[in-house]
Order: sequence, then C-alpha cells, then structure tokens
Amino acid sequence: MGFSITLQPDNLTFIAETGETILETARRLGHKLPHGCCDGCCGLCKGNLLQGTVDHGKSSEIALYAEERDAGKLLFCCAIPTSDVVIERLETGSSWDMLDYE
Ligand code: FES
Repeated sequence: MGFSITLQPDNLTFIAETGETILETARRLGHKLPHGCCDGCCGLCKGNLLQGTVDHGKSSEIALYAEERDAGKLLFCCAIPTSDVVIERLETGSSWDMLDYE
C-alpha cells in the first residue's frame, strides 16, 4: 500500500500507489493539479512539501533549484512520496484548475 497525500489548501487526501508520482496519483483519481510538461522541466507543477518526505525523481535543476528543494519545494510530476505527505499547491486563485495543458 502506498502513502497518503493530503493536498492543501483543499484538505483533500488520496493514496498513492507504490512508486507513483503525486501528479500521477492525482490524475489517476480524477483530481486536477497544475502541470505542463510532466517531465520535470517546466516548473508549472511546483508546490510546497509541508510534511513528510519525497524522492524528487527526475526533477531538473532548471525547474527546481537546489535552494528551492532545500526550502521544501517539489515538483508534483516528479515527487514520489516516501512517507505520508502534506503538500500545498502554489496557485491560490479560483482559476487554478484551468492550468491543465493537455
Ligand atoms: S509539469 Fe513540468 S515540471 Fe512538472
């Protein structure tokens, strides 16, 4: 069984399958998260890791600077939970769910 992902400020919790990224989990379960390239390069899926730990996977230094990673930022398309996590999307406007570029 995978780890729980709680998305803030929505207070929405869902369960990742083992080895699945946060974005893959959200999309599999029909939850929208902002994203673009889905490959760790554009940075559109950047968010905050409020609690827990992740494997940053293939996130590139172009989209997520080391300083940002150290400060608790992550890319939803690359981050694989390694514990139960609480994350926060950066967009706070009412149109955030329109940022689905597929
Ligand atoms: S969607 Fe482009 S870096 Fe995650």
